Amino acid sequence: MNTQALRFLRRGQVVTLTGVQTQRTLLDLLREDLHCTGTKEGCGEGDCGACTVVIGEEIGGQLELRAINSCIRLAHSIDGMALWTVEDLAEDKKLHPAQQAMVDCHGSQCGFCTPGFVMSLFALYEKSADQPMGREQAQAALSGNLCRCTGYRPILDAAQTMQALPAVRVDEAAVLAGLKQMAAAQNATKDSSYLSPKTLQDLLSLRAQYPDAQLVAGCTDVGLWVTKMHMQFPRILDLTRVKELRRVEKYKHHIAIGAAVKLSEAFAALLEDRPQLASFAHRFAGLPVRNSGTLGGNVANGSPIGDSMPLLIALGANVVLMGTRGSRELKLEDLYTGYRKNVMAQDEVLAWIKVPKTVPQEFSRVYKISKRFEDDISAVCLALKLHLADGLVTHASIGVGGVAATPVRAVQTQAALLGQPWNPDTVQAAITALRSEFTPISDMRASAAYRTEVLGNLLQRFWLESQGGRNTSLESLLLEGAAA
Ligand SMILES: Cc1cc2nc3c(=O)[nH]c(=O)nc-3n(C[C@H](O)[C@H](O)[C@H](O)COP(=O)(O)OP(=O)(O)OC[C@H]3O[C@@H](n4cnc5c(N)ncnc54)[C@H](O)[C@@H]3O)c2cc1C
Ligand code: FES
Ligand code: FES
Repeated sequence: MNTQALRFLRRGQVVTLTGVQTQRTLLDLLREDLHCTGTKEGCGEGDCGACTVVIGEEIGGQLELRAINSCIRLAHSIDGMALWTVEDLAEDKKLHPAQQAMVDCHGSQCGFCTPGFVMSLFALYEKSADQPMGREQAQAALSGNLCRCTGYRPILDAAQTMQALPAVRVDEAAVLAGLKQMAAAQNATKDSSYLSPKTLQDLLSLRAQYPDAQLVAGCTDVGLWVTKMHMQFPRILDLTRVKELRRVEKYKHHIAIGAAVKLSEAFAALLEDRPQLASFAHRFAGLPVRNSGTLGGNVANGSPIGDSMPLLIALGANVVLMGTRGSRELKLEDLYTGYRKNVMAQDEVLAWIKVPKTVPQEFSRVYKISKRFEDDISAVCLALKLHLADGLVTHASIGVGGVAATPVRAVQTQAALLGQPWNPDTVQAAITALRSEFTPISDMRASAAYRTEVLGNLLQRFWLESQGGRNTSLESLLLEGAAA
């Protein structure tokens, strides 16, 4: 039995709950314990957005609001935060602009998805202040919400018109004061079943003290083990409050991304240096998942179809592992020893991911092949980084996902490129090497043959993109070369 009190701020009041089980999800807490059934359960796995709620935290003196999936979020993880559900928006029976715009634009039919859409709209409304809202911005904000009957056009219209309605804003100062007051009041009923250290030193000590505790970050993988596999966790060690690990540190030649940095922030940091990764970043899950999940969790989880690892391998990233016995740094690809297995000892955590900055001679791209454009897992992911100087490949670094038991480096393909002139013959040789380097499996996402074929096609696309606006295909260039 968990005796640790869970406290959060809602409608200006501190809600204090005791006896909330360690692995209780926020959605179950809302619907079953608090009888707030406005928040819906669709998939229970972060895919549909029916369960979207908004949480608020003080970050650097400002209130930061984020839409998240309550179905895969552990209730205790919002301790000390502010919470808004769909029941909290209308005031004096007057709809919030996000709700009113949905009514005005006919954005709801059966209504099941509507509370989730409204909450994503609410977070967008608060974030975008009085700026005019672009269609793309609205689409990005709603990327984690599915509607099966209305169609998206009226919902996107609602997103673009809500700001024209009479303004209703969250009273930031009042929420910040409430959060501060709650933090100052001692939580007298602490126990050790949900551990949420605030410093790196405490995290490492607790990791050593409780090696069997389930380590969690954003819980966007672990949450599914709870909702779909019904796993029980007597003790949880949540690293998302560790202040050192919530930072992105910028150095001359690399950036260091803390393991507790959310995917949305980690991608923003990577994009500063390499804006060409933007569409890939937007295709990683949907916004509510990126608002909870961390880059560290993606890397540590080690799924062979995880998206960030092929990219990080290609960019030459290192990981820093830490424990009470010290720290060590290794190449990201050396972290993995087999299917979802890694070299991390039971008393270690992944603390930082170090990513080299770009250099002028770099040409890099990452390609994700999945059945759905947004919010879907890759069948294949290919990331390439070349340095090109005087028409020669002076450096080749390639990461691949979906072709082996772990994310991997394409060593043979790199060798086929290194030192060669960057031309169609070299590309053709590299395509052949890439297609023969791995023996992918067939599964529900793609057949082995498709994966092999598409890898080569992506390398061809990379070549074409490296040639800028030239409208040509590799085959025609090869033919031209043969005719010359
Ligand atoms: C709807 C949906 C869509 C998704 N789409 C994608 C996608 O497009 N691409 C993709 O790659 N993934 C996707 N995912 C998977 C998931 O979101 C990512 O893997 C995410 O980065 C996991 O991070 P997290 O912080 O939530 O990890 P958690 O779920 O908290 O943890 C995952 C695992 O990593 C371990 N762990 C976490 N942090 C550390 C650490 N610092 N040190 C040691 N171990 C640690 C945990 O113990 C656990 O075993 C999706 C998930 C959902 C639910
Ligand atoms: S219920 Fe579908 S995302 Fe939570
Ligand atoms: S209104 Fe029915 S699912 Fe969206």
